[in-house]
Amino acid sequence: MTDVGIDAIEIWTGKLKLDLAETFAPEMGEDPEKYTKGLGLYASSFPDAHEDIVTMGANAAHRLMERKGLTPDDIGRIDVATESAFDNSKPVSTYIAGCLEQVYDEDFHHANKGERKFACISGTQSLDDAYNWIKAGRNRGRSALVVATDTALYARGDPGEATQGAGAVAMIVSEDPDLVELSTEQGYGSADETDFLKPNQQFPSVDGKRSMQVYLARMREALEDFESVAGDTHPDDYAFIPYHTPFPGMVRKAGLLGYRHMIRGTEYEDDLADAIDRQPREDEFDEREDYEEAIRDYMDDLKSTDQYQEWYGEAVDPTLDISREVGNWYTGSVHIARASALRHAAENDLDVTGDRLLVGSYGSGAQAEIHAETVQEGWREEIDALDVDEQIRNRYDISFEEYEQVHDRHNHEKTVEMEAFTEPSGEFVFTGRGAMDERVYEYVE
Ligand code: HMG
Repeated sequence: MTDVGIDAIEIWTGKLKLDLAETFAPEMGEDPEKYTKGLGLYASSFPDAHEDIVTMGANAAHRLMERKGLTPDDIGRIDVATESAFDNSKPVSTYIAGCLEQVYDEDFHHANKGERKFACISGTQSLDDAYNWIKAGRNRGRSALVVATDTALYARGDPGEATQGAGAVAMIVSEDPDLVELSTEQGYGSADETDFLKPNQQFPSVDGKRSMQVYLARMREALEDFESVAGDTHPDDYAFIPYHTPFPGMVRKAGLLGYRHMIRGTEYEDDLADAIDRQPREDEFDEREDYEEAIRDYMDDLKSTDQYQEWYGEAVDPTLDISREVGNWYTGSVHIARASALRHAAENDLDVTGDRLLVGSYGSGAQAEIHAETVQEGWREEIDALDVDEQIRNRYDISFEEYEQVHDRHNHEKTVEMEAFTEPSGEFVFTGRGAMDERVYEYVE
């Protein structure tokens, strides 16, 4: 059977930067280390006045198509994943196709377009849709364009405000991919939860602490479900484990939980037994509560062992480098975690061809999905082509007053005129609204 997976990716960050330690913390009356050490975030990306989910998505897609030498005829479907849509009927993918048609001679009339919604996990669900379409043989030799694009804003004063972000990831899904092949095996953990939702409103209603518990519970279910089809997981099996990253501190918790689960009953648990004893087993306890407390104590001990720290430093920490600088990109978040890990491999000259990744996606509401990926021969060239560092460096650093303006500008309930802080060049920009209140875009040379 043909290998199917991600052939190439491109990342587009919002062009503004809010420094959390320098700019945000003093205004919030918080210790900067709450953000840099506690949440693990240094900065958030925001869209400039002329940017939104369409421009960021279209710009990422355009660069990707140019780099891969693709034209609309090569693309058979455009799937957009977002939880920042501004229209309940017309999908963002039509706007993105419209933008791209401004710069190509061909059109996308032949392409199936849609929009996927399930909080942050819809980025991975869109990849799955594209994968299934190709595996089913319906693609007529064409590739799929998957775009995960979000402006992740919280209401001013919400604790989530520190985890905001904005950006897009565009991915080409194809046969014989250059970057990673996706496993057929998947595991799910899915339940009706009300920890984070946007009932016809732009900014989320969120119970932050509960959302973290739900994330961990669903991720654990998904891992067990994955193992039921793919066999037990072992830390040595995966070069990197990119997780959905609302903020790196969340992944620190998920990494610990995942490692404890993976080493249970293995030689790694035995190696640690002298230092921290063996993991508690549920059948050793009369009360579930006592068992859970014993597990928490074990995890506290496990966290500080050299064995765990070394694994975390190699397999998980490198997935967080980009996220630290840009915040939560919702649907794109797990996809920048993968890119971050592979970029780390490239920078450190690690040969990861043929290595496996275990990818943990998540969306509130809530669902986790685990699948594996195999790194392909062309990965290095694809990753070397990314200029995400330069984009991050070139962002305009906004003051707190400017941040307040930018937040208002992107608030759907406000109409705020604002001069852009950056000069667009070779990109799509938002220019205003048309007769039916549709959003209008043009390409600026
Ligand atoms: P908070 O209550 O303001 O923060 O909001 P906190 O007091 O819990 O502090 C955060 C961490 O910093 C803690 O670490 C503190 O100890 C530490 P922990 O104990 O958890 O390891 N800390 C410090 N460390 C060093 N020096 C200091 C210091 N002070 C504190 N001085 C919260 C945190 C995450 C709740 C908030 O940001 C929030 O509500 N965020 C939005 C919800 C969210 O991101 N949830 C994550 C799971 S759900 C998810 O991932 C889905 C999502 O992406 C949406 C979707 O799927 O669509 C959000």
